Amino acid sequence: MTLTIAIDGPAAAGKGTLARRLAAAYNLAYLDSGSLYRGTALSLLRSGLEPAEPAAVAAARGLKPELLADPEIRAEATGKLASQVAAIPAVRAALLDWQRGFAQHPPEGKRGAVLDGRDIGTVVLPDAMVKLFITASDEARAMRRFKELQAKGETAIYARVLEDMRERDARDTARSTAPMRPAEDALIIDTSAFDADQVFRQAKDHIDQII
Ligand code: C5P
Repeated sequence: MTLTIAIDGPAAAGKGTLARRLAAAYNLAYLDSGSLYRGTALSLLRSGLEPAEPAAVAAARGLKPELLADPEIRAEATGKLASQVAAIPAVRAALLDWQRGFAQHPPEGKRGAVLDGRDIGTVVLPDAMVKLFITASDEARAMRRFKELQAKGETAIYARVLEDMRERDARDTARSTAPMRPAEDALIIDTSAFDADQVFRQAKDHIDQII
């Protein structure tokens, strides 16, 4: 039977790390759905167009898979614009089939798929077999992001990282279409005080009870 895992949660909570480990442990294909919104934002930034609705929708519809591998999609400015374009319902609609298609048709040899994002368990894959909501305190998440930026050699100010992250989370939670929230049947894991191994073990115990 195909195994589909939906992972949602705010920025820098540890969703990506967990998703990659689960993908390896259960032989699943992995899609970081945030990269689709980031790719849309990056193609807008490169076109020099304002993130007005028609341009953003066109960018989402014409999104090229190659762009998802561009290191620029990880830049803070791209993430910020991604959360702005993600609030536009027609942008979300344009990216929905891509995400569902990925989950429904995992590559040959894979047992299924794991997707992470903000609305995977609630909107994209409401019937996912396993749903996880990964969160952590604002301060813990901002500190992780701050250290990541430092490790990349970028100049960063912790207070600024915290403020930007809160602003982005607030936008993701308050939007009317597909706001970030845990699905009713999601296991919520607060990773503030846990390392990646502990989070992985909790998730794995939960998944092994379901499958
Ligand atoms: O997860 P990541 O930080 O890469 O996501 C960038 C932005 O894309 C988020 O702030 C959010 O606004 C948007 N997003 C979304 N729904 C998803 C994944 C990401 O709205 N499923």
